[in-house]
Amino acid sequence: MFDVITFGSATQDIFLELPPKKWLVSDINHKKYFCLPLGDKVLVDEMQYFSGGGGTNVACALASLGFKVAFYGKVGNDASGKVIFEDLKKFGVNSRFCFKDKDLPTAISFVVSCGDDRTILVYKGACHFLFLRDIKLKKIKKTKWFYLAPFYEKTIELFPILINFAKEKNIQVAANPSIDQIEKNNQDFLSNLSKIDVLFLNKEEAAVLTKSPGVCVEDLGKMLQKICSGIIVITQGDKGVTVFDGEDVYRADTYKVAIEDKTGAGDSFAGGFMAGLLKENNIEYAIRLGIINSAKNISQKGAKNGFLNKAELKILPTIDIIKERTY
Ligand SMILES: Nc1ncnc2c1ncn2[C@@H]1O[C@H](COP(=O)(O)OP(=O)(O)OP(=O)(O)O)[C@@H](O)[C@H]1O
Ligand SMILES: [Mg+2]
Repeated sequence: MFDVITFGSATQDIFLELPPKKWLVSDINHKKYFCLPLGDKVLVDEMQYFSGGGGTNVACALASLGFKVAFYGKVGNDASGKVIFEDLKKFGVNSRFCFKDKDLPTAISFVVSCGDDRTILVYKGACHFLFLRDIKLKKIKKTKWFYLAPFYEKTIELFPILINFAKEKNIQVAANPSIDQIEKNNQDFLSNLSKIDVLFLNKEEAAVLTKSPGVCVEDLGKMLQKICSGIIVITQGDKGVTVFDGEDVYRADTYKVAIEDKTGAGDSFAGGFMAGLLKENNIEYAIRLGIINSAKNISQKGAKNGFLNKAELKILPTIDIIKERTY
């Protein structure tokens, strides 16, 4: 019996640190772009490799806290795939459902940092092409939870299938749909959200899903509660998190750290939050673990570094959480 089976991406993350120059940043339609000189050679100061991807990141975050976790997904039959298997093993994640695709390579994320910010270039690979034929439904009944990390490309088609299967088998579902899934925003996607027990979104995703740009997080939460009756978590980057459980709204600020690399902030928050729910079935404890896990994670480079472990749960800092009744 597993506590959680996670589904989603498994990538190799290659970090490229550009020299600390003042790169031209242009602002087009309220979005910032950093510009590289066309035709030039840009020397890169540092390059580091880690494994990444929402499905494996959350699996490893939960395993680090002692939960019994399996990752369901695909990698390529290549060196990057090997790195992913090694990390799953290191954290104690069961990899029996992590398959090697014969034809497709492992997906790669190139994380190009420029000062405090970064742009991620994703080379699509095996994890983005998980099909129904790859899912052995009979073998995944014995778990308390499914965690559906952001899905892309062909894997998107699995979202309703996994949710409906989980509901049939009394498995709870947490999901963090990708912007690709949200932008489709079709009736089918929305009707599936209504069956989810925990919905993780960042504020931008919540605004796209509700088609309400510029709306405050409280109002986004109210709109989302009409779509999903489960717990709704809206993360707001360095502004913390707001959580809605149908009765109360909870707000917490971030845990302040020196940031090394923001890759994996959302995944480590979700992993911590899920761990809190599994351990104490208490939203405030879940928020506390989410806030601290994500802060620790982004204080180190690599989406799987800095995760809380079991021993650290005994010396957890307190986090101020404001809880108010919603009517
Ligand atoms: N600057 C920061 N300092 C401390 N904690 C942070 C900071 N930025 C993010 N976090 C923590 O990480 C959580 C998730 O961050 P964010 O809302 O940026 O997720 P995201 O947009 O889903 O990230 P990702 O790019 O990983 O998908 C926040 O709610 C917060 O707890
Ligand atoms: Mg995210």
